Amino acid sequence: MDFFNYKNGQLFAEDVALDDIAKQYGTPCYVYSRATLERHYHAFNDAFGEQPHLICYSVKANSNIAILNLLARLGSGFDIVSVGELERVLKAGGDPKKIVFSGVGKRADEMQRALEVGIRCFNVESEGELVRLNDVAASMDKIASISIRVNPDVDAKTHPYISTGLKENKFGIDISLVEAVYLRAAAMENINVTGIDCHIGSQLTDVTPFMDALERLLDLADRLKAQGIDIKHLDLGGGLGVRYKDETPPLPSEYTEKLFTNEKLKEYEIVIEPGRAIAANTAVLLTKVEYLKHGEEKNFAIVDAAMNDLIRPSLYQAWQAIIPVNEDSSAETRTYDIVGPICETGDFLGKDRDLALEQEDLLAIRSAGAYGFTMASNYNTRPRAAEVLVDGEQSTVIRKRETIESLFENEIMLPKE
Ligand code: LLP
Repeated sequence: MDFFNYKNGQLFAEDVALDDIAKQYGTPCYVYSRATLERHYHAFNDAFGEQPHLICYSVKANSNIAILNLLARLGSGFDIVSVGELERVLKAGGDPKKIVFSGVGKRADEMQRALEVGIRCFNVESEGELVRLNDVAASMDKIASISIRVNPDVDAKTHPYISTGLKENKFGIDISLVEAVYLRAAAMENINVTGIDCHIGSQLTDVTPFMDALERLLDLADRLKAQGIDIKHLDLGGGLGVRYKDETPPLPSEYTEKLFTNEKLKEYEIVIEPGRAIAANTAVLLTKVEYLKHGEEKNFAIVDAAMNDLIRPSLYQAWQAIIPVNEDSSAETRTYDIVGPICETGDFLGKDRDLALEQEDLLAIRSAGAYGFTMASNYNTRPRAAEVLVDGEQSTVIRKRETIESLFENEIMLPKE
């Protein structure tokens, strides 16, 4: 559920009309709802009830410092994949002791910084990484707490680009081979084994793959216990899907209810790393129709947002709802492809949408809060959009629109002759 609703035919973010946002801040513009963000965090946190747990919001979904700060204020932990994301969380006031560090390619300097600030856990993804982490920790006279990301070989039944828990994927260590790596880790001087981690994929709409993965993690924890390795937490990763069109993903409470049916889970602290399910429906991408082109085969609405602002439709053929900001239109309803100004046929935001449009109309692309701005680029030398956060009747810029000048400030011309 979110707080983007029509009032008297006008689309609002909480108590602010999107039409006013467009007038005040221009388009394209990401518009966030604070109440939606907070609601989603609480839904996850409350769903765990008395069960010891930590919600580590996955920063990659949306890393704006204002968003991270609001989550930090609620007590959220964070899942990071780079030193850049680490610095963002610190800047936003996040607690290092609630940070888990995922990712297949952690550099030594990234490990060093994470150890320096005292993060909670490294989710180690390979034996090479384990050896490097032990060395880096030893050089700093520190102990690194780890879980090993196992690849449980379950099919998340999602888009191949965002499925991560199959043997053929690059992530984690094969669950059938991981025991030896755990034994090696347990014998290392500067490593403290605390957990088991997995992340099987994103936009999952069924709990079954999570249950299968959990079962495999619990079995592994038993086997490790028998060998003297005491596992304290299980990290089940992120991946819970959202409704973009007609999907019916489980609610956080339905997800935990199912997990809790496995009694053994209660012996462990549970860490989860939700990104999309917290952030996706917190924002719309607000865009203006520049031109309409009515052809024999197709009608196009050319808008001022493009694939550089929101790449999900182009990259994954993702479907996101596109709705008018003003519901009442006297224009004829036609079937449009909503496309951007970029010089690529793949530059579309939605296809075959029935809309009554006129030039200058405003459209809102829904569910744009996760993997929206974070995947934006400057392709075609397009400054990245502004981000605005609505809180009740107030709106605040949380990221200024980029200027053209700033796009080439790091570029250097050769001296003459
Ligand atoms: N933890 C790890 C280790 C991950 O790799 C990811 C996402 C998450 C947590 C968060 O997953 P979520 O709860 O958001 O599903 N750009 C794609 C999604 C890529 C997901 C990558 N990993 C998209 O726009 O659909």
